[in-house]
Amino acid sequence: MDALRVWWVLLGILGAGSAQLQLQKFGSILMDTCNSTVIIPCIVTNLQLNDTRAMYVKWRLGGNEFFSFDGFEQPVKIQRNSTFQSAEFVSLSKLPFGTASLSLSRKEAIPGNYSCEVTESNREGISTVELKQAIESWFEPVENTLIIITMVLAAIFYWTQIGVVATKFDISLLKKISLIIAGLIVTIAVVIGCVLFVPDGFESSNQVGLGLIVLPAVILVPLLYILLTSVFEKPPCFAVMLLVLKALGYVIAVTGFAMSVSACPPQHAAVVIAGLAVIDLVAVIALVYVIIIGSNFKDHQPPRKAVEEPLNDAKGVMLE
Ligand SMILES: *[C@@H]1O[C@H](CO)[C@@H](O)[C@H](O)[C@H]1NC(C)=O
Ligand SMILES: *[C@@H]1O[C@H](CO)[C@@H](O)[C@H](O)[C@H]1NC(C)=O
Repeated sequence: MDALRVWWVLLGILGAGSAQLQLQKFGSILMDTCNSTVIIPCIVTNLQLNDTRAMYVKWRLGGNEFFSFDGFEQPVKIQRNSTFQSAEFVSLSKLPFGTASLSLSRKEAIPGNYSCEVTESNREGISTVELKQAIESWFEPVENTLIIITMVLAAIFYWTQIGVVATKFDISLLKKISLIIAGLIVTIAVVIGCVLFVPDGFESSNQVGLGLIVLPAVILVPLLYILLTSVFEKPPCFAVMLLVLKALGYVIAVTGFAMSVSACPPQHAAVVIAGLAVIDLVAVIALVYVIIIGSNFKDHQPPRKAVEEPLNDAKGVMLE
């Protein structure tokens, strides 16, 4: 074993004298949450023997060795610190030609100063590269704001609708309570969602936050149905169209959410916003509609029959 080492050292002296190894300089590199593996570069530019049997490589983080490769030993000996189990050369076959870059899983890649020290025969060189965590946000700030505003508006419109319907039309106590509970669920989900969603980052908490903002909005679709059927015995064509449009808005928003969560980096905020905007638009139209019907309703008694008249009028207008 030692004879072999001496042989390689001699070979190195004969071949190249004792000039130091030259390593490429990298300064710092960034990792973001989209990196599943992180590659810390280490490139030697003047290897001469091009044989791993003459090579020794050490990787350190902040001075502590966590990975070593000993080519003098046969078979080659690779040692890793237990907290860097994923550490490996990007390509063992490129090592003799100077690529000693290390790949780490993102979980194990701690920001810090990594240094690689390469020895070939009797020559050696070292290079240090700082691994930094990129500060990133999932969406643009204006997109975040629009998502939150559209969903808060959706909740506000919903509560206004309940208020109007409850004051102008006969609805049972049970229905009122169910509408209020459903509204509370949506509202609480939106509030918690915003708290999780707003901080910078593309972490699972941000994803859960957006999920809480977008997904429970589905409740608004059947709620609109219940509200409309509280106003009309048989919802007119226009009301049905509103329901379909509301469901469509929800489908668009959820599609945007699914695309944003799976893509890295995610870029589909516009789809989420478009879907939520449709939900808002339908809510406003439904609100105005219910208020108009409600004001006609007040002028006529008894309630139920009177509702049908403006209804038929509305239908007639829609068909023309
Ligand atoms: C992270 O991924 C980006 C894009 O794929 C890449 O440019 C960058 O070098 C990667 N960072 C690290 C530290 O591997
Ligand atoms: C890495 O080294 C640079 C330059 O020596 C220093 O400014 C920086 O604070 C170090 N980073 C860490 C995480 O120790």
